[in-house]
Amino acid sequence: MILLSEKAGEKVTISVIKADIGSLAGHHKVHPDTMLAATKVLADAKKNGLLIDYYVTAVGDDLQLIMTHKKGVNNKDIHGLAWNAFEEASKVSKDLGLYAAGQDLLSDSFSGNIRGLGPGVAEMEITERPSEPIVVFMADKTEPGAFNMPLYKIFADPFNTAGLVIDPRMHDGFVFTVLDIYEGKVIDLYAPKDIYDILALIGTPSRYVVKYVHRIDGKIASTVSSERLNLIAGKYIGKDDPVMIVRAQSGYPALGEILEAFSFPHLVEGWMRGSHTGPLMPVGIKDAKMTRFDGPPRVAALGFNIKNGNLVGPSDLFDDVAFDETRRTAQIIAEYMRRHGPFMPHRLGPEDMEYTTLPDVLKRLENRFKPFEMGYKPITRHDLEKM
Ligand code: F6R
Ligand code: MG
Ligand code: MG
Repeated sequence: MILLSEKAGEKVTISVIKADIGSLAGHHKVHPDTMLAATKVLADAKKNGLLIDYYVTAVGDDLQLIMTHKKGVNNKDIHGLAWNAFEEASKVSKDLGLYAAGQDLLSDSFSGNIRGLGPGVAEMEITERPSEPIVVFMADKTEPGAFNMPLYKIFADPFNTAGLVIDPRMHDGFVFTVLDIYEGKVIDLYAPKDIYDILALIGTPSRYVVKYVHRIDGKIASTVSSERLNLIAGKYIGKDDPVMIVRAQSGYPALGEILEAFSFPHLVEGWMRGSHTGPLMPVGIKDAKMTRFDGPPRVAALGFNIKNGNLVGPSDLFDDVAFDETRRTAQIIAEYMRRHGPFMPHRLGPEDMEYTTLPDVLKRLENRFKPFEMGYKPITRHDLEKM
């Protein structure tokens, strides 16, 4: 195996935690006052030394907290801090009468770990390289499996990532940790050796989600939030609008190889009422608001450098003419899919509709079904009038 030259720097944790705590004019756009409320909480935590640095942003109706600290992943203090920030933002959301205020805060109180309580979490602890470029991806109106195809392209497809062929530090491949979100089980699969098995699973993104990607030497390369609100709450309260962190350059895929994977607006599940298939459109933060049919599903990407734990940046990566054609293609696909109206495959299949409000509608028809025999005659309006 090729040894990767990396000076051992300090350990730092990047935590991206997001929640929908209510938004303006529908499930559309986070209100700046709620961002301000969350920012105040994180600013205090930076003053107190709990956080090294933070950046607050929003994509669609999701408020995004990007934080760096020394506490490691899954830390009670950091998760508690995020919970407080969301609670403060929720208060403002309620005062302003924003729509679905407090939506993702499924519990009345914080109990040590924010996972399972509603918000989405992607975290990684890294040993900081002398220059540590990272990209934070944030999607709205879709689910964690939406990142499956881009992650495959970034870390396993040489037609996307030239470095897999050319760079000896990447040539040995990557480990994909795939999570079965129904069973709560994971499997480690190796690219390129196991690529057919990887695809056999992650081609079902509503069930199998790429949770982590590591380099073959064990260093973390990517992590994705994997919460599924509908499985947590047992009823439809929104898709899970995932976040993802990817490390870039120097033995990891180049920034441009990471972004290249989003140049194809692939179909994802989510969109209107979390019940439709549509294209994932890469956009800058200024366009990260949901409009047509509550979408189309969008993804924003912020590029940072981490230096001594500080977040240098960001650069709004999809706010660029190079993605104009992708966006145009996404619009064409959106139009094509919309023409199907309530028909599959635009509307999701029965398995995915289970946690939506459709079963309530179908239940009302249950008693009206009758056995079918040849010679069956429908009851007409005329018959009904005679009854
Ligand atoms: C999808 C989403 C929206 C809502 C839709 C209906 O994740 O958030 O598309 O599902 O706007 O919302 P309600 O039922 O709150 O009126
Ligand atoms: Mg919402
Ligand atoms: Mg959302």
